Amino acid sequence: MRTINYQDHSIEFSDDKTALEAIESQGLNIQSRCRQGNCHACVLQCDEFDFNHQRSDSNAQANVSAPDNSIYGLDAKQVSMGLFLSCQCKGSDFSKDTNLTMRAAKVNVNSASVIEKKSLNDRVFSIKFTCNITWQAGQFINIHSPLGERSYSIASIQDEGVIELHISKKLNGKVSNYLFENAKVGSKFAISNANGDCFYHPFIYDKPLILIGTGTGLAPLVGILKQAIKNKHEQDMHLYIAQGEPEFHYYQKQLNRLAKKHDNLKLNYICRRNSLNIELDNTMRVGELEDIIKQDHLSLKPFGAFICGAPDMVRNMQIQCILSQMDRSNIRVDSFEDLPYESDIQV
Ligand code: FES
Repeated sequence: MRTINYQDHSIEFSDDKTALEAIESQGLNIQSRCRQGNCHACVLQCDEFDFNHQRSDSNAQANVSAPDNSIYGLDAKQVSMGLFLSCQCKGSDFSKDTNLTMRAAKVNVNSASVIEKKSLNDRVFSIKFTCNITWQAGQFINIHSPLGERSYSIASIQDEGVIELHISKKLNGKVSNYLFENAKVGSKFAISNANGDCFYHPFIYDKPLILIGTGTGLAPLVGILKQAIKNKHEQDMHLYIAQGEPEFHYYQKQLNRLAKKHDNLKLNYICRRNSLNIELDNTMRVGELEDIIKQDHLSLKPFGAFICGAPDMVRNMQIQCILSQMDRSNIRVDSFEDLPYESDIQV
């Protein structure tokens, strides 16, 4: 039988499961975010993939290669250490008698202090930390809490000197709810180095930008916009941010202020429904995000695209960009699972 050894558990690694799913099936908690190989939150270390591993068990199987998908986007050093993406590593990638020993990846951990926590609306709050790390706006960090670890995208740029996160209060969001209840000015948390490739980069310096997001997918887009403005991005920057209802939108005042100062920033607020028939101004439209973008832009080919938020939307928009013959190197994504909000659950 094919097995994974993880934290004293011997776990069956069936053909149809990823390593992440197999380990989770035992009730064990592994960090994850997109489950599509984009975010790198689910990185684990496998002894059998580690070129330098000193084998302590002479019966253990050596020289097993990590599947190509599971090391896509990792650098050579990480691969040589046996790091891999557990959401992209399937049982069917290995022969039936393979025995793999996996563990949490050794990543750098830094101390961060909360300097501000405030509500952005009924569902979303922001936390600002000071921490001695470097980042590119739009990347994410993992926060360790007594209830586990979770990744959040950074909404601020390095020049601001603080890490700003937008966090939504979700029904099963253990870490998010822990931060909402317990983080206070002066609280200390361990956070990882910044990760991910969804940030303002040289390939798109001379292109118009399209920034597309749902929910708190706005956070990395805000960071990317701030960086583009700091770099004096000359081409148009079209922000499309969608929420379920008009009143779920947040951070509009700050964005409207930015748009007033920068003519090339075009704001598009989308809501899927308007159940309360709220009077909407001309920046807010009701409809499906993907359809509205299609109506507004016959072709996405000239753009550099950033797509952040719910995995289905990210996948659909990625396909829309590729069908428009946009160069794939100009598409950066950050997808993360969409848990229900507390207020969406009828008791
Ligand atoms: S890469 Fe595996 S959860 Fe994102």
